[in-house]
Parts: sequence; C-alpha cells; structure tokens
Amino acid sequence: MRIDDHTIERIRQSADIADVIGDYVSLKKKGANLWACCPFHGEKSPSFSVSPAKGIYKCFGCGKAGDSIRFIMDIEGLGYGEALRHLAKKYGIEIQETVLTDEQQLAQNERESLLIVLNYAKNYFQDNLFKHEEGQSIGYPYFKERGFSDKTINTFELGYSLEGWDAFTKEALKNGYSLDILAKAGLTILKENEQTANPNAQKSFDRFRNRVTFPIHNVAGKVIAFGARILKADKSQAKYLNSPETEVYHKSNVLYGIFQAKNAIRTKDVCYLVEGYTDVISLHQAGIENVVASSGTSLTSEQIRLIGRFTQNITVLYDGDSAGIKASLRGMDMILEEGLNVKLVVFPEGEDPDSYVQKIGSDAFVKHIEDHASDFITFKAELSLKEAGNDPFKRAELIKDMVGSISKIPDSIKRSVFFQKTANLMQIDEQLLISESNKVSIERAKQKDKDRERENNRQRLQNDLPKGVTLSKPTPPAFDLDGMMSFSEEEEFSGFPVDFVPVQPVNNPVIDSPEAPRIVVSGMGIQELECIRLLINHGTKEVDPGVAPGVTLMQYILSEIDGMNFETPIYQEILTIFREQFLLGNILNAQHFIGHRLANIQMEAINLSTERYSISEAWIKHDIHVPTEEDKLADLAFQNILRLKKAYNEQQMKGLMKQISQTKDINEQTRLLEMFMEAKEIEKQIAKELGTVVK
Ligand code: CTP
Ligand code: MN
Repeated sequence: MRIDDHTIERIRQSADIADVIGDYVSLKKKGANLWACCPFHGEKSPSFSVSPAKGIYKCFGCGKAGDSIRFIMDIEGLGYGEALRHLAKKYGIEIQETVLTDEQQLAQNERESLLIVLNYAKNYFQDNLFKHEEGQSIGYPYFKERGFSDKTINTFELGYSLEGWDAFTKEALKNGYSLDILAKAGLTILKENEQTANPNAQKSFDRFRNRVTFPIHNVAGKVIAFGARILKADKSQAKYLNSPETEVYHKSNVLYGIFQAKNAIRTKDVCYLVEGYTDVISLHQAGIENVVASSGTSLTSEQIRLIGRFTQNITVLYDGDSAGIKASLRGMDMILEEGLNVKLVVFPEGEDPDSYVQKIGSDAFVKHIEDHASDFITFKAELSLKEAGNDPFKRAELIKDMVGSISKIPDSIKRSVFFQKTANLMQIDEQLLISESNKVSIERAKQKDKDRERENNRQRLQNDLPKGVTLSKPTPPAFDLDGMMSFSEEEEFSGFPVDFVPVQPVNNPVIDSPEAPRIVVSGMGIQELECIRLLINHGTKEVDPGVAPGVTLMQYILSEIDGMNFETPIYQEILTIFREQFLLGNILNAQHFIGHRLANIQMEAINLSTERYSISEAWIKHDIHVPTEEDKLADLAFQNILRLKKAYNEQQMKGLMKQISQTKDINEQTRLLEMFMEAKEIEKQIAKELGTVVK
C-alpha cells in the first residue's frame, strides 16, 4: 500500500541516522562523525562512519553507503516500503496511506486477512503441539525423537495438526474467520457438494491433518505458508504437504528459514543452502544459523537475489546421492549468473545435513564444510572429467559446458581465474577456452539486443495505445516478499517526494545494487565524474559573483556542455536528471540524490559529496582561512568544461579517423578530412586555454 508523501517526509525527519544505526552497532564519536565496525562485512577495526550532520553512513571498507532508510533496507533485507513501515513503527508514526481504489482496497484487505489467518493457524498448531493431548502424545514426541529441543521448536514455531477432518476449519470458523479466506490462505480445502444444487452445501476439510507443521516465514517474519510432514512412513501419502501458491505465498520467491537466518548470514558473510526443512532446523540447533532451504524446489533467481541481500557467498550443502547433485548443477550456474560466489559440499552417501550434524556434532560438521568445500567450477570440471574419460567427443562437450558456466560470471577477474583453473584441470590451452567463451558472449549479447529491441517495440506500441489498455510484460511478477505490499516497489515510489522525474536510462539498464561498480571507462569518464561532482556539491552556488552575479554553476556548466552526452551510464543518468529538472526551474543538490531511491545513484552521490580534503580541526581552532572549493568554483568549472570538451573532441577525431580509413569515396574522404582538421583546430584552442601545448 502506498504511503503518502507527507508521512514519508515525517519518517525521514524522525529517523535520526545515529539513532537508527545505533540499534545495530555501537557507535563511537571521533571528530564530527561516529564510527563502528561495519555491520555489513566482517572487520576488526572500524571503517564504518556515520555523519549525523549529513544523515548518511558510509563504509570505507566495503563501500556500502546510504541514509537511514537505505540502512534499514540493507540490514533487514527489506524493500523500500517495508523499511519505511519499520521506521514508522520505531518512531510511533502512524502511517497515512493514500486513498486506494475499491479494487486496490479489496486486494489489500484480502492480503492482510490472509496473513492474519495464517498467523492464527500457526498459533493454533503450536497450541495443539503443547496443549492438546493428541499433540502431546503424537506430535511432540516426534520432534523429540528427531532431536529438536523446546527452544528450537519455539524458534521455528513448529506445531501439530490434529487427525480429524476439519478440526482446524471448525475452530477457525468459530473464531470468526470466513471459509473464503481460509480457502484462499490454502488452509482449508472446499469441495462442492455435487449431490445438491444448494451452493451453501459445501464440504470443507483441513489441508493439513495428522502432521507436524513447519510454518514458512517471509523475510520480515510473517507466516505466509506451511509445510507439514507425516509422522509415520506411509508410501501412499506424500511425506511433505505444502501450502499451495496463494496471494501471499509465491514459492519461487521464498526460502525456508530466511527470517531466522538473515543476521547470521550477514555476519558470517556466507549462506548455507540446504534442501530440507529439517536440515535448516538441525543446523540451526547446532549453532550453525546461517542456513536456508530451497525446500525441494529447484533454485530460482529470485531466491538467489534474496540471499544476495545479505551475502555474496553461497555454499550449497547437498545430500550424497549423485542424482541430486546433477540436478542441482543448473541452480549453481544461476548463482554464478547472479554474480554470487558458489561453493559446494557433498555429504557421504545416505547422509543429509540434518542426519550428518546429529551424527558427528557441530564442530566436526563445520570442519567437514571447511575441508570439503570446493568451488563449483572445479567441482563440475572434476565431476564431468570422470564421466568423460578419454572420449574426445565427450571432452569437447565438456569444454563447451564449462565455458558456458564460466562465461556467466559477470566479474571478469573471477572469470579469468576460473579459465586458468579449468585449463589446468583439463590440460588444455587457456586461450582456447577464452576464445570459446568470447563466441558464447557474442551470441548472448546478440540475444540480449534482440530482447531489448522487442521490449522497445512493446513500449512504443504501449505508448500508442489508449489509456488504460496495457500490453502484458514478459517479466515475472514483482518481488512481493512480505505479502503486505500491494504494489510493486516501482509504483510505491511514485509518491516519493524527492524524485521528480523517473530515471529512464536509454540503453543502460539501471543496476539497482549497492555493489554496482563504479566503472570509469575512459579519459572522458574522469572528467564526467568531476563534472557531476561539481554539480552535486555546488550546483546551486554562483560561479563567479564578481563577474556574473546570479549565474549558478548549474546554469553555467549545463549551457557549456549542451548537447554533449556522457559515456559513463551512471553519470549520464544523473546529468539527464539535472537537465530535466533545470528545465523545470529546479536545481538539485546533494541531499536530493542522497535520498534517491536507486541505490547506485545514492551511492554515487554519497561518494561524490564526501569531502576529499577535510580541514584539520586545529586550523579551524586558530581561525586560519583555508581556501575551499567554493573559493575557486569558476576555475574548477572552467577547467572541467575544457577537459570535457577536449575528451569529447578527441573521441570525435578518433571516430573521423576511422571513417576516413574506411571510405573509398574520394569526395567523402575530403569532407571527413575537413571535419577532422576542424576538430584538430578546436583541440589546439582548448590546449591553449588549458595552458598546455599540443604538437
Ligand atoms: N519435499 C516436499 N515434498 C515431498 C518431499 C520433500 O516438499 N514430498 C521438500 C521438503 O521441503 C523437504 C525437502 O523437499 O524438506 C527435502 O526432501 P527430503 O530430503 O526428502 O526431506 P528431509 O528434509 O530430509 O525430511 P526428513 O528428514 O523429515 O525425512
Ligand atoms: Mn532428512
């Protein structure tokens, strides 16, 4: 549900950065800032700084940065709306939701009702386990037999569903829950009575009967579904029964145990991925808390991204049987594709993490992981090598396969390490692997171009359609983790006061990741950075009040570089926002970007607005005037503009050079040459102004 602008502003105002962060780490004052050991990466000496004056934090170790809302998003793994709600609760701010259409209201109410009834069911099953005689004599002893302590049973909110057909449904109806909501929550199964035409004559029964129950929580800790296990081996029934997909439970977005594991995952900086409910629970009980399960489904990219909110490292712990391993290789490729690191540990035949940790104890278990974790690429190469033997065809297949996996790794340094390793393992030329990989990459790039074109066409078509008519978009549904948000993050943001214009990158998709690397691609990139830095920090100031009073730096720079586009996507993006807002009469300052909803823009702004030279306190004490940037804005801006023009001009010249060498037509060549000479002339002019000499 959308939170209105006024409320968002109040939350922003109240959420004092030091107070918010102080809940998670102990901050120590040093100079103007507060310092702590970074909660996002393991470290022994503090490099995490908080600036109460600016309302921002920044870690000089891992680069995480943001305002108090971003902090809550990152540390709690919440979406933007969820983080706002979290802070509103902390500061006792009542959330004013904007008026919804009837339809939206209905959907919102329904989701809330589902969460309420699911929570009721969880309590009911827990009560059964501890208080009902059937639970005490059947359910509870089962968990005890499996070695679960009371503390563990409570942590995971385990329960028991009674044997009768509709014990739960009856009780829920008695407590005022409607059959409709019970059915929509997946708790009750309705069966139309075919004997009679009376629509009220429905037969309903409980989905979970005579089973122990495992509530499935979302990342915020709300119960969104259940898994339930039979107690005795019975081949005629499924061992586990799970909730169906519902309005609040999208299987592919959920990981079992994430709520209980998220803190440990962040501090250990690795997530163990297992297959089953009981694996998660047993490891947790053994003190290994950074563990989640995919619960028997194949891993999805949403699940990987969910882990990625807390760590970049996944270690997959799999059962000993090789069929399982083969089936899971695809999931590991996906982890690589998402840019995370993946390792793999296999357990002895017949053991799963649950049975193994109970057998050998937690210390030995941790040691087993440490000793046996192999990186996925090496693991795959060894596994397939064994299979391929000396068969040249199989080996060729294998090479292709390995190259396919490695080229999915987004990071080029990591990629080259794996090429080396694989080449060694398979005793082939590394160059061969790399050139195979280039082929694959080109194919993929082509495919991406095609996809993008298709999407562009779709959008163009969409623009031509009458209002209200939409074309379906071939993307998965929005990530709806807490089941509380009725709209996608994107829509939720439209009420955000700080962004006036939605950012619309032309060709470069925005990477909304705090880890988005700052790539400076060319000599131009450095100047682009400097230009944006000046605009962000000083855009509203007068460039040279003596010479041109009233002319802001923004106005000056934008008019000088009119028509110029930046190469570095992030700077181009910020420049576009500046330009669009300037046309509307607004000059944006650092604060606007620091509160920006896109993490990469936010980070960039924080990096650019962090003073490069901080003035020594001693100097301030003795009132010594130190020239600051503001004293020489005109100079800085002038140099930057010249350098930008120089770099831009150089590019034009390079382009012309290339064109000249490629044309056969004499007239065309002459024309290009003239243009080149012109550019050369400009270069000389710029050089003169910059005070350097170009030969
Ligand atoms: N699973 C399921 N439905 C089944 C079997 C399995 O949903 N019929 C899922 C469950 O999430 C289960 C996971 O797949 O936890 C792994 O299955 P398995 O290894 O068979 O179960 P364990 O977790 O080892 O369960 P247990 O130890 O209780 O036998
Ligand atoms: Mn098991």
